[in-house]
Amino acid sequence: MDTPSSTAASDRHDGAWVLRYEGFDPAQEGLRESLCALGNGYLTTRAAFPEARADDVHYPGTYVAGLYDRAVSHIAGRRVENEDLVNLPNWLPMTFRADDGAWFAGTVEELVEHRIVLDLRRGVMQRQARVRDSAGRVTQMTQRRLVHMAHPHLAALETVLVPENWSGTLTVRSAIDGAIRNRGVRRYRGLADEHLGGFRRHTIGDDAMLLETETLASRVRVAVAARTCVAAGGPPIATDRWTELRRIGEDLTFDAIEGEPVGVEKVVAIYTGRDPAIADPATAARQAVTEAGDFDALLVAHIRRWTELWGRCRLDFDLGPHSDGEASARLYSFHILQTLSAHTAALDAGVPARGLHGEAYRGHVFWDELFVLPYLNLRLPDVSRGLLRYRYRRLDAARAAARAAGFRGAMFPWQSGSDGREETPAMHLNPRSGRWLEDHSHRQRHVGAAIAYNVWTYYQATGDGAYLAAEGAELLVEIARFWADIATFDPVIGRYRIRGVMGPDEYHDGYPWSDAAGLDDNAYTNVLASWVLRKAAHALTVLPEYRRAELGERIGLHHNEPAHWEHVARKLRVCFHDGVISQFHRYGELAELDWERYRKQYGDIRRLDRILEAEGDTPNRYKASKQADVLMLAYLFSPAELVELLAYMGYETDPGLWGRTTRYYLDRTAHGSTLSSVVHAWVLARGDRGGSGRFLREALASDVHDIQGGTTAEGIHLGAMAGCLDLLTRGYPGLEVREDALRLDPVLPEGAGPLEFRMRYRGHWGVHVRITRRSTAVKLRPGQSTAIRVQIQDNEHTVHAGETFRVLLGGKA
Ligand code: BGC
Repeated sequence: MDTPSSTAASDRHDGAWVLRYEGFDPAQEGLRESLCALGNGYLTTRAAFPEARADDVHYPGTYVAGLYDRAVSHIAGRRVENEDLVNLPNWLPMTFRADDGAWFAGTVEELVEHRIVLDLRRGVMQRQARVRDSAGRVTQMTQRRLVHMAHPHLAALETVLVPENWSGTLTVRSAIDGAIRNRGVRRYRGLADEHLGGFRRHTIGDDAMLLETETLASRVRVAVAARTCVAAGGPPIATDRWTELRRIGEDLTFDAIEGEPVGVEKVVAIYTGRDPAIADPATAARQAVTEAGDFDALLVAHIRRWTELWGRCRLDFDLGPHSDGEASARLYSFHILQTLSAHTAALDAGVPARGLHGEAYRGHVFWDELFVLPYLNLRLPDVSRGLLRYRYRRLDAARAAARAAGFRGAMFPWQSGSDGREETPAMHLNPRSGRWLEDHSHRQRHVGAAIAYNVWTYYQATGDGAYLAAEGAELLVEIARFWADIATFDPVIGRYRIRGVMGPDEYHDGYPWSDAAGLDDNAYTNVLASWVLRKAAHALTVLPEYRRAELGERIGLHHNEPAHWEHVARKLRVCFHDGVISQFHRYGELAELDWERYRKQYGDIRRLDRILEAEGDTPNRYKASKQADVLMLAYLFSPAELVELLAYMGYETDPGLWGRTTRYYLDRTAHGSTLSSVVHAWVLARGDRGGSGRFLREALASDVHDIQGGTTAEGIHLGAMAGCLDLLTRGYPGLEVREDALRLDPVLPEGAGPLEFRMRYRGHWGVHVRITRRSTAVKLRPGQSTAIRVQIQDNEHTVHAGETFRVLLGGKA
């Protein structure tokens, strides 16, 4: 048995394009299943062993974007309703046995050798193993697996077996398993986890089968069809088809001869009742699986699509000789591209915080799209637009939520699922104390501001005025209306206040001296709300006159409203203490935490909230944040913009304010969210290149090395992954789109070598940017698109298709 190890190899040639695992380490299997998961934006399948069923080591999971189901549980004496992204029937099952030996089950004892190589360039997972059964028969196994990037409903698994030291009968079992529950997250166990019922099993012709099922509450029909064919060696001597209540399968028996391969391939089609342009899922799956080509034919079209995607999204950089940063960045690009694609945009689905890779946060959609869309805007804008539409479709639900809470406009939920109602659970479990606790995180009203920010930055990056006119402006206006209404005027201080909310830092959900939930005057919320109010007013002026009138009529916009928004925007309150911006009103009165003591006692204190609660204490008492909160402002806005925003709000700031504020909160942040290191790397990029590089390395390690201690097995951190890529392609390059010009003002983190990437900008596909310590170049492909204005530091040039604009940094073009 090889030593279990995982490497994201990082030589600048092929190594950075593969994720390789040597050996089999049961303790790491959940992490590997997430990191090697394959998907296409429509569906994702975890990289579970095909011979394994869900247990404490393995967790097969297949999820379709946006497919949820509700279930009711009773915990701590309360009725709790949750909506889950549904784990669908497992299409992978494939195993074998020699003569009448036991079926291969993927245990450590059976696996003499084991290797997995995930090929990021082609989107193919390859597995090689030597399997020994209890009678000492050794069989070599090679498997290749794909989830088709061009045909979103297809997936395929090829298995080639070679008896190494035996001859006899070899039986291969291929099945579809519907005996599936949502049991991927240990701390949710004890909650309702059953979502599938109404099973029907069918055979299709000589070599295919179909399992139909339906989600229990949302009543979405799901069909999984599989065709199993011989891919190497002679035909089977016997075929036996079988069914159980929730499973269907077939056993193919071969005469196996020592040293001679027997190959079987399984081509799978998955459809659901949410798919457009089908008669019904079963008919569509039956047809697709019958018509699909064999593994090799599927592979050709699959690789072609991946090649296209990489052509648009390639990123190369060098973080120094001992870093696997480039390999991690490729892996993160790979997961973004296979979670959010044109196929997602064709559905009605949002950005699931943990990808479609596991069941953490139940596949819900949070504010994390704030970290994802800026990256997609400049590469796959159609995907961004599709994801924004997920929000637009739920605008009525957000209006209803605002109304129910007594406000005008739209109040988007902190956690969103199928229909846009608030999905944040009422209670959550602290695994450290075993206690179920009230969850107040739905008070993070800033999620609406993030949606507005994304609408505007999409419009800025793409110049897509049609989008702004059709949907974007309406979103902006309704979100602005909410801010204008939730803000209450305090005549004593002459300012508007937003009270009873939470900022991004989830350690603080109330004042230690009060029983009421929520905090007042969260700086991040208020400054961003002020920005949204202004942008909404501005967006209306950008619309063509007739469209402005139409929209005004439709949503009953009073002609005074924009002026009122601007009035509130000027007068929202920001608090200060000790010469820094206060995270919220009276933050300065909280106690200092003894960081040294906690670090010494607990080592990893990222989940300080759980530690304190288990001690009978609460983080609400301390100046201690889970993640960037005030500093999120410096993530979204440049220093100059921040000065302007605060000045507009009537706060004159001294030049040292942001430096002081950054240091203050850096010293008081536990980084309990993977988003935190991305934000801090960004915030420090210009002032502290060493510090920024350290956070960048940590952010790039977050999922590959699972630095949150076991969370990646439950799903990747999509926001942090995309945030890393955005940091590399916008943060360090200092790239922004302003006044119709593409501007770059690069700094590279300490120890980093050349940075090269592709992007799409205003009709130019594959714009190539190369940044070294000495120069920056922007190269346009030859083509029809009109020239663009590019500014690199102080040098501006109109660049035509086919041209390169290169500037020596600090020097002349
Ligand atoms: C973070 C949130 C984030 C959520 C989903 C939480 O741990 O605090 O900011 O939206 O995870 O990724």
